[in-house]
Amino acid sequence: MQADFWLERWRQRQIGWHQPDFHPALEKYWPTLGIDPSARVFVPLCGRSLDMIWLARRGHPVLGVELSPIAASEFFGHEALSASPSVAGRFIRHAAGPYEILQGDFFDLTPAMAGAIGAWYDRAALIALPPDLRVRYADRIAGMLAPGTCGLLITAEYAQEKMAGPPFAVMADEVHALFDAGFEVELLERQDVTAGNPRFVERGLDRLHEAVFRLVRR
Ligand SMILES: C[S@@+](CC[C@H](N)C(=O)[O-])C[C@H]1O[C@@H](n2cnc3c(N)ncnc32)[C@H](O)[C@@H]1O
Repeated sequence: MQADFWLERWRQRQIGWHQPDFHPALEKYWPTLGIDPSARVFVPLCGRSLDMIWLARRGHPVLGVELSPIAASEFFGHEALSASPSVAGRFIRHAAGPYEILQGDFFDLTPAMAGAIGAWYDRAALIALPPDLRVRYADRIAGMLAPGTCGLLITAEYAQEKMAGPPFAVMADEVHALFDAGFEVELLERQDVTAGNPRFVERGLDRLHEAVFRLVRR
């Protein structure tokens, strides 16, 4: 997807992916992963996700990367934090409290700029990207993580021909194709979430599953 597509979505407030609650899979599975609460968690394509707040409440410093300045400022506004922006390479850095959001293109992020990452969390990031970018995304993530780094990945599974993404369908086979070379990949859960997503039923889906994976960098 082009940056303009997402920036326009934010400008038009077409942000149906934004959840008013913490993601149930984050609450259910993160505590089982054995991640130290001091670990800095990387949240690529973070939007203004409240899941970053859940992670910070567990004690984690959080690093998000997000294209939209609206998302970044609304996130800090929601938390009543004032983050004075500064230039950091090709990014605008917003930081306050336990949060740092690098506003810019994920694909411009270098490991040096990201700094130490102790864990990562992907909800609606991989599935926001078309197939060619998903390959680049998986490569970039692998390049940023030290061996042993653990992450939670949440994907959407549906018949791609019934609806144009985003969100794109990313089936388990593709998760394995993208990550098996560099990660231990374990499916934790697959749930039928059709009933809770009427907007996708209106767009043509008769069945939508959400899958949750634990990925550990080899
Ligand atoms: C589907 S939303 C998911 C946001 C968040 N993960 C959540 O669960 O609410 C995808 C987000 O990725 C951002 N985005 C898309 N492409 C990006 C890129 N190349 N670099 C950084 N952010 C990007 C969009 O602006 C959008 O906020």
